[in-house]
Amino acid sequence: MANAGVQRTLALIKPDAVNRAAEIEKVITEEGFTIVERRQVTLSQADAETFYAEHKGKPFFETLIEYMTSGDVIAFILSGDDAVARWRQVLGPTKVSVARQEAPSSLRARFGDPGNDSKNGTHGSDSLTSAQREIKFFFPDLTLEAALTGEGAKEY
Ligand code: TYD
Ligand code: MG
Repeated sequence: MANAGVQRTLALIKPDAVNRAAEIEKVITEEGFTIVERRQVTLSQADAETFYAEHKGKPFFETLIEYMTSGDVIAFILSGDDAVARWRQVLGPTKVSVARQEAPSSLRARFGDPGNDSKNGTHGSDSLTSAQREIKFFFPDLTLEAALTGEGAKEY
């Protein structure tokens, strides 16, 4: 498999899991990621709707926005080899009930709420393009160099 090289991705600890941030940050470093930036913020309704714009109109959208604005989130820029795909692997499947079956040691299995598909505890960008958008969203003041997501930024 081709080596994807060093990338940056956007990770989030969602509201229900913020009280377990220390445990999640331990996993981040144990998995070999470097925390480039960290920021705790409260999302407004408009912020959450912008961040999840691709899901507008879906049946879970309102619940998701309500959840994402129910408390602070912690955003991270993570750096590492193949960071985008590898962080998604650490997260596990989107639905906590599925994560508990298929990837019991994943973050979503460990820190998500199996009774509510929205409350899966953590987020990761799904591509380099998403990572670029999501890093800009949470860290709009970064210099271009700090915001770069991939070596040579090949996808854009
Ligand atoms: P999605 O982008 O499909 O998943 P991922 O976070 O793995 O990229 O969905 C965004 C979030 O929306 C997801 O983390 C949790 C929530 N969600 C639901 O509440 N119900 C659902 O059926 C799906 C697919 C997602
Ligand atoms: Mg997604």
